Amino acid sequence: MIELLKAALLNRKHLRLVIVLCFSMVALSIASSLEIVALGLLANTKSFLGGQASSSKLLAKLSSFLDAHLNFETDFRMFVVFLVCISIFKALTLFVSRYYSQIIGIKVSMDLRERYFKHIQTLSMPFFHKNEMGSLANKAVADAGQIANSVSSLFTNYLLTPFQAVTTICGCFYISWKLSLMIFICFPLLMFPIIFFTKKVKKHSQSLFINQEKFTGILLDFLLGIQTIKVYAKEMFSFKKYKQKNDEVAKFEFKAAKYAQMPRPVLHMITSLFLAGIIIIGHVSNINLAEMMVLVGLLYLFYEPVKRFAEENANIQRGVVAASRMLDILKEKPHIEDHVDAKPIKEFKNAIAFHDVWFKYEDDWVLKGMSFEIKKGQTVAFCGKTGCGKSTLINLLVRLYDPQKGSITIDGQDIKMLTQTSVKDLFAFVLQKSFFFLETVAQNMGFGAEYTLEELQEAARLSESLEFIEKMPAGFDAFLQEGGKNLSGGQQQRLSIARALLKKAPILVFDEATSHLDNISEQKIKSSLKNLKGKLTQIIIAHRLTTIENCDKIIYVEDGKIIQTGTKDELLESCPSFHSMWYAAVQQEKV
Ligand SMILES: Nc1ncnc2c1ncn2[C@@H]1O[C@H](COP(=O)(O)OP(=O)(O)OP(=O)(O)O)[C@@H](O)[C@H]1O
Ligand SMILES: [Mg+2]
Repeated sequence: MIELLKAALLNRKHLRLVIVLCFSMVALSIASSLEIVALGLLANTKSFLGGQASSSKLLAKLSSFLDAHLNFETDFRMFVVFLVCISIFKALTLFVSRYYSQIIGIKVSMDLRERYFKHIQTLSMPFFHKNEMGSLANKAVADAGQIANSVSSLFTNYLLTPFQAVTTICGCFYISWKLSLMIFICFPLLMFPIIFFTKKVKKHSQSLFINQEKFTGILLDFLLGIQTIKVYAKEMFSFKKYKQKNDEVAKFEFKAAKYAQMPRPVLHMITSLFLAGIIIIGHVSNINLAEMMVLVGLLYLFYEPVKRFAEENANIQRGVVAASRMLDILKEKPHIEDHVDAKPIKEFKNAIAFHDVWFKYEDDWVLKGMSFEIKKGQTVAFCGKTGCGKSTLINLLVRLYDPQKGSITIDGQDIKMLTQTSVKDLFAFVLQKSFFFLETVAQNMGFGAEYTLEELQEAARLSESLEFIEKMPAGFDAFLQEGGKNLSGGQQQRLSIARALLKKAPILVFDEATSHLDNISEQKIKSSLKNLKGKLTQIIIAHRLTTIENCDKIIYVEDGKIIQTGTKDELLESCPSFHSMWYAAVQQEKV
């Protein structure tokens, strides 16, 4: 419960709404009690029942007041008007309290979704390796939705219960304090089933959420791999896995439904037996009929929110579980944070250097003592067999991960002592896997920054993208589909290069940036980049070795270690692995 309230009160702006809600709930409780009391008064007036004396001072006083001022034979209409007014007042307060509790729920969930997204963006890559996409997506959609639902239910039920309890209990004690004492006998009896069902619902909700997450994960996985599924005609295989998870989710939903629906009937039975007991005791002790009516009415009113609360408890408990799951993520600290004394780096002046860098993702070392230097204006290439650690080492440049041993410096300053944003500003990446957002071509190129049409055209021209962009009906304003799926692999790579060039960062990093391009397009891009040689520092990773033949320096990597460094010709002479790789590549290109 604390988790849900914590989630609800994360934003103090909601306090105003909570105050309005509290007032409307007080008004609603008063209206509900007035309704019952009004009926009791009617029953208690002399003119209505021929006047039995009331033992309750309050009722008696009110009744005699009414008898003195109203004649129910002639003023009957007025009484009906009074009842109608109370009903309208109750309807209004009911609407305001329910509406505001929903609004608070929606606002809490909106805030949480915002905080959640902002927060996960600050988290480092290991977090995203540890948590599956389905699980993270489910938390922002399903968990936040459940929290909204539960917060509104929490305010309606948890807040309304004390208001109604206090107002009705006062009424009950005025009428008969002896009979009212029985409330305290019944109340603990109601608590046992509530506690029992709360535990059950919480346990099943946890399992349900975990299964829903896995289910979302499987669904996302299949949607992302739909093309592979189709070409292998493995729809049945996918369906089987999907159905298996779907059945598991339903199994937990059945269990949760059972425990969610049980509390109300059980509590209803207990309170009905209790009311029957009160009526018998009241009858034996000759209590006035009108007072009995009011007492039973008020007790009914007292138990109603308790029963509703028990019924809604399942919903609230699901919210508690969802809130604790979301708060767990909000408590996650980034693995990599700026040092307290970190300073921004404004300009790249001299060189990037790796000093005996060791790095591992899990147990095995991926980079094993790498040391090298890239001078400003140089074009340096990394090559080596697949899986030798090339992409890993460029990930370390902008602190997507930190090395476990050794250090990386820019202009002699350890990057751990520089602010991450300023380091990232020095680089523009074309990654091995291109990615585009559901946005226009221009937005995708600029990543939210504003560029003039001339700048966009220039970057597109240098990356050989201008032609296909201008063929699109809306040109730079054309919308790309999810992940850029309305572009070919080569077009995606060219647009990624355009994005990197547009940033005008001093260091360009290309990781297999032209692997999907035909030779002519690649040659054209190569000559564009050649013009940038000396002006920009370029770090290139390429399997197609002809891409890197003109580099100032080639670093040959094998199993996380630097085997040889030099120009193409030097490596052909001194590095047998590079030699055989080069000739295999040349043979392949001839074919
Ligand atoms: N997130 C990760 N968690 C665990 N291991 C990883 C992770 N990413 C990469 N690896 C492992 O690290 C090693 C180096 O991977 P890396 O991606 O750097 O290779 P690469 O040289 O870029 O290969 P390629 O030429 O195929 O792109 C591989 O053995 C890979 O399995
Ligand atoms: Mg790679």
